[in-house]
Amino acid sequence: EYKFIFQFPLPIPSIAQPITSYKNPSTGATIDYFEIDIVPFDKQTYPDLGTTSYVGYNGTAPGPTFHMTRGREAVVRFINKYDRPSSIHLHGSYSRTPFDGWAEDRTFPGEYKDYYYPNAQPMRTLWYHDHSLSITAVNAYFGQAGFYILDDPAIDAQLKLPSGDYDIPLMLAAKQFLPSGQLVSPATTHVSLWGDVITVNAQPWPYLNVEPRKYKFRLLDASVSRSFSLFLVADSDPNTRLEFIVVGADAGYLSSSVPTKSLVIAMAERYEIVIDFAKYQGQNLTLMNERKFQNNPDYPATDRVLRFVVGTHVSSTDGNGDVPNQLVTLNNPENHPVIDKQFTFETKNGQWLINGVGFEDVQNRVLAFPKQGKVQRWELINNSGGWSHPIHIHLIDFQVTKRSGGRAAVEPYEATALKDVVYLGQNEKVEVVANFAPWSGVYMFHCHNLVHEDDDMMAAFNVSQVDL
Ligand code: C2O
Ligand code: CU
Repeated sequence: EYKFIFQFPLPIPSIAQPITSYKNPSTGATIDYFEIDIVPFDKQTYPDLGTTSYVGYNGTAPGPTFHMTRGREAVVRFINKYDRPSSIHLHGSYSRTPFDGWAEDRTFPGEYKDYYYPNAQPMRTLWYHDHSLSITAVNAYFGQAGFYILDDPAIDAQLKLPSGDYDIPLMLAAKQFLPSGQLVSPATTHVSLWGDVITVNAQPWPYLNVEPRKYKFRLLDASVSRSFSLFLVADSDPNTRLEFIVVGADAGYLSSSVPTKSLVIAMAERYEIVIDFAKYQGQNLTLMNERKFQNNPDYPATDRVLRFVVGTHVSSTDGNGDVPNQLVTLNNPENHPVIDKQFTFETKNGQWLINGVGFEDVQNRVLAFPKQGKVQRWELINNSGGWSHPIHIHLIDFQVTKRSGGRAAVEPYEATALKDVVYLGQNEKVEVVANFAPWSGVYMFHCHNLVHEDDDMMAAFNVSQVDL
């Protein structure tokens, strides 16, 4: 049991610094060059127990945050100094196939690989994490995950949302610890690793000192298996849910901001929210998690996430104005009513499968052949009873246009977003529409419950230059 709820501050991951810069030989553009070591390290999680062993990027968990500016290219060398293979996926990036973290494109112990990230795409909160065949859950859970923030100064200058010290990344992840202080490995389960300890930026139940003004938080659920339904309360009145404003999702800012009193976030989803603490000087607010949400088991403190301790002094009013209603114009796919593909997510003989196929099934695992630059509508069908699956499609940004069964509607903050993960809740069917672009090639799509993904709910699609 963790006795120190809301007693330790929220850690903020350090910012990755380039080692040098050089010129792109074909375009002359500047490329920032980074190196990241994948190394083991120990960390004190429980003040009263032994240390916890992690393996993380540059020996930290979360890994260093990449803070990138749209239009400035980067090469990141990931050097594997540990004893398990790695493959790095930059989740949310329009990466060419060699740099997308294909599960079998493994970098073995003692090797390195250079990943090229052009940063030419629209701004958003991305994250980088391991994607190595069959061991993604273990690698990501033990520390191989970090933020990658791609900003667009032109848009930020217009919207004037909270930035700098008032723009804070929050990586939620449910963990399970042994009495020794070590982590329970997700390799010990074939169904899910739920976690009874809620960590934010790897600290169990932290607190954050805030000023009585607006903040933007970049939420990411990096859990192996736990999804959240978040809400916010003042500790003085825990039965009244407070409003906050959703301004961004997986693929960047929403077309219009969405005030809400609850937010569903599943594994690998990102949401950017603005909370205004102005009215709560000297009070505490708590970010809470709904009990009995979908199939997530509850433990004594899984209804709590993060405490905000609101001070009395505002040191800057930059970005403290009204949140605009209209945010950005999204590059939505053209209207395309026909369902091109149906994918059924189910469990059979102890395996997690898509249309009866798992990633191991090398002959059959390419399940779709969208033509490059053409729009398709995919229907995702949850046929696995009491399980839910956050479905991630690599390469593309999609629009969530329909949900039936289960929650029976597209959430308002999904409707005004472009996404790369959609939460397919219990008994739900969801339709997504996307332009299959910009690149051709074979990309993965899968459930982002990492235990399901590893075992074996992952398949591929081939974005083709010709009709296949
Ligand atoms: Cu975040 Cu294919 O993964
Ligand atoms: Cu799943």
